[in-house]
Amino acid sequence: MPYVRVKPDDLAAVTAAVDLLNTARSVDDPDAFDDVAELSARWLEFGWDLQPHERYLYLPDGAETPVGVLDVQLPTRDNRHLVWAEITVHPDHRRRGHGTAMVEETVRRARESGRTTIWLGTAEDDEPARAFLEQRGFHYASHDARRRQRLADVDSAELDRLLQQARLAAADYELERYVPPVPEAILADLVDVTAAINDAPMGELTYEDEVFDLPRLRDIEAARDGRGDRVYRIAARHRATGRLGGHTLMVVNPLRPGRASQGDTAVHRDHRGHRLGLLLKIEMMRWLAEAEPEVEVVETWNNADNSYMINVNESIGYRLSRVFAMYERNLA
Ligand SMILES: CC(C)(COP(=O)(O)OP(=O)(O)OC[C@H]1O[C@@H](n2cnc3c(N)ncnc32)[C@H](O)[C@@H]1OP(=O)(O)O)[C@@H](O)C(=O)NCCC(=O)NCCS
Repeated sequence: MPYVRVKPDDLAAVTAAVDLLNTARSVDDPDAFDDVAELSARWLEFGWDLQPHERYLYLPDGAETPVGVLDVQLPTRDNRHLVWAEITVHPDHRRRGHGTAMVEETVRRARESGRTTIWLGTAEDDEPARAFLEQRGFHYASHDARRRQRLADVDSAELDRLLQQARLAAADYELERYVPPVPEAILADLVDVTAAINDAPMGELTYEDEVFDLPRLRDIEAARDGRGDRVYRIAARHRATGRLGGHTLMVVNPLRPGRASQGDTAVHRDHRGHRLGLLLKIEMMRWLAEAEPEVEVVETWNNADNSYMINVNESIGYRLSRVFAMYERNLA
């Protein structure tokens, strides 16, 4: 079999995959941050919610070193029609049919598991990769934007002004800060605001709402703990009803010093229009500055049509890094 599963405890295999991915990215996406083998191993062990994706090294015809990496995720809690894949061919081995072979393997996996939708992404401005996908039966279905906020460049006077505005608009809410372990009762409160992320646009992708319930939130927390993430969460509680109206989450991992990843920010539909998104994010910046003063850059991803969130992000200093296209193929 040309596909060798990468097990999280096999550091040589994990490192071979990460080296190949980093080499490809230095060509295809030079602004991307390098992957780190140890952290990649933890993702392969814990995944996002204790349901990790599968990673394979592609070694065709007895090759001794891998020429490609294939990642496949087959969701089980929802979206059971879907195979979400990533295909990367080493830059020295392109245009020899390896990418096509990995697409065929992805299709085989989808058929074998009775799934009818495949997603594969690429940079929106990577015309060869887009042509590659279109020639293999995929159509453009959505796009996501990567933005970064360089904290040294943020206009702090403007931030103070926005914070005052947001505090006035959100006077009916009080903010609560949490670090893990988040008490069980708070996690239960967070279910509805977490599920509000389902309201974010998804383009034309064939997709059903993700299921968020208490067991899944617990698993997401456990996976973060397994990866060694330091997690900061702020929730906005409506004073009159005691309900949570929104939340935001920031993740720092000691294996990626100097950087933070913005997790979900979501405001429940009953609580929109009070500048909670802006308030939560500026308050998070303040907390991050106290708790993680060495962080220099925060990265965030949004669907490129999510103008509300993007406007908030731009107003607090995030700048566009690159847009990525998501392609879909539907199997009969
Ligand atoms: C896109 C990618 C997977 C293609 O892998 P590959 O092994 O070169 O693909 P194949 O050899 O099977 O097919 C190559 C075909 O794709 C198209 N293609 C790929 N690269 C191309 C280029 N630089 N210019 C023009 N066409 C190109 C052509 O149709 C080509 O066929 P041809 O060589 O007969 O003209 C590879 O370039 C890659 O890893 N890119 C970076 C990661 C990425 O964007 N992945 C997402 C794609 S799923």
